[in-house]
Amino acid sequence: MTRLLMCRPDHYGIYYEINPWMDRGHQADRGVAVRQWEALYRLLTEGLQVQVELLPPVPGLPDLCFTANAGLLVNGLFVSSRFRYREREAEVPHCTQWFAERNYRVACLPEPAFFEGEGDALFCGNDLFAGHRFRSELHAHQLLAELLGLRVHSLELADPWFYHLDTCLCPLQPGRAAYYPEAFSPASQRLLKEAIPELLPVTEAEAKRLACNALVIGRSVVVNAGCPHLSRTLTEAGYHVHEVETTEFLKAGGGPKCLALSLDRDGS
Ligand code: ARG
Repeated sequence: MTRLLMCRPDHYGIYYEINPWMDRGHQADRGVAVRQWEALYRLLTEGLQVQVELLPPVPGLPDLCFTANAGLLVNGLFVSSRFRYREREAEVPHCTQWFAERNYRVACLPEPAFFEGEGDALFCGNDLFAGHRFRSELHAHQLLAELLGLRVHSLELADPWFYHLDTCLCPLQPGRAAYYPEAFSPASQRLLKEAIPELLPVTEAEAKRLACNALVIGRSVVVNAGCPHLSRTLTEAGYHVHEVETTEFLKAGGGPKCLALSLDRDGS
């Protein structure tokens, strides 16, 4: 059974601007956000039999609901994030405390380097891909590789709208991923093509609806509503597609995937 960590968006809103999606003049409706989050939670727990753990929300930390950015959990070791922007720094102690209290091993990178957890670090099969430039730093990838004893494929992001790797790459199964090519530097596009034999490109319009920020649970894929091309491609490839509305989270630059953190990744 898949286990994920989520956090209710009880204190969510657009209170600062740290990526191009965020505009304090284009406020999220918290009531709608809570309903969208609850629909995702119900789909995962009731429809897809996922075990969801809950991180308590904290006033003044509007982005805490994006638990994918708490850190990266591999083989029971939680590597906590080090956020690029001061606005999110105060999330770190809450997340590390949650893991420490549940007897996970908790580590941070041995040297200061920005690292934004699963937002910028995704497994495709046993291969770990990590994004850098807008949030995480290349140096953090090397430190992460040493800490986990794994090889990390570093990918350079090229477009500030796709500031985290999980906004433009969606691993589906070993050797297969959906992606938005233009979000990567030319060298990283080449690297992806070599490392992942089957890449399904998403259109610009759907990338801008964070189509790649989809949550993959076995053969089921939870995709943001309004991405018909990707939904069709996935259905034809044999996946069960579940569409959810995340309009309020899009205003902060997030979709279904970044509202959850994987708790059962084993990186063997
Ligand atoms: N407002 C948040 C930020 O800019 C959104 C994070 C979305 N998370 C993700 N993994 N893409 O940091």
